[in-house]
Amino acid sequence: MVGPLRRAVHALCGALRPGFAFWVAVLSLVRLSEGILIRITEKGEVAGGPGFDDPLGLLAACHERIEGHCVTLLRLREHVRMHGFDANAQAAAGRVHHYFAEAGRWHHEDEEQDLAPLFNRHAKDTLRAVFARLMAEHKALEAAYAPLAQALVALDPKPHDLPVEPYVTLIRAHIVAENSQILPAARSLLGPAEIERLGQAMAARRGVNRVRL
Ligand SMILES: [Fe+2]
Ligand SMILES: [Fe+2]
Repeated sequence: MVGPLRRAVHALCGALRPGFAFWVAVLSLVRLSEGILIRITEKGEVAGGPGFDDPLGLLAACHERIEGHCVTLLRLREHVRMHGFDANAQAAAGRVHHYFAEAGRWHHEDEEQDLAPLFNRHAKDTLRAVFARLMAEHKALEAAYAPLAQALVALDPKPHDLPVEPYVTLIRAHIVAENSQILPAARSLLGPAEIERLGQAMAARRGVNRVRL
């Protein structure tokens, strides 16, 4: 939405050729409004990316989205400290909470119910122990998210401190550990049939009828 707005202003500048100072002022206002929007616009909602034929890539892409939502939460905390939940903040809060309440829950289930049995079939004891610890962390992450979820739903219009911590720190450490220790190992341990089964299970969880590729 921001790009087309900027292009429209440039096109208008070219078509009408009014005073230079006037259009500099208009573009400054556009830039200012972009800054306000970008400040709490989420990162990581990029079209494309891996599909269910690459379930490990899909899990990594989920981690990128989670990191994007963490960035949004930190920006949102600053915004809410100054303005409370105004309309812009409400929209960002809705997107973040929707993601964590639905896709975030599915992501945990993908790892616990579908990846874990395949991974544990091949991994050595030390790696299985790391994976078990990370799966147990999901409960702690859900507990840390609960007060934040309440605030994201309550949308108090008065300026206040949004309780993004300890959730943001915990989830960031969790995905760094999974990205560095679990996903690369899974790529080397799982065979093509297991990758296919994992992708099918993840698709089914989301109600997607995946045609075999
Ligand atoms: Fe996890
Ligand atoms: Fe994960």
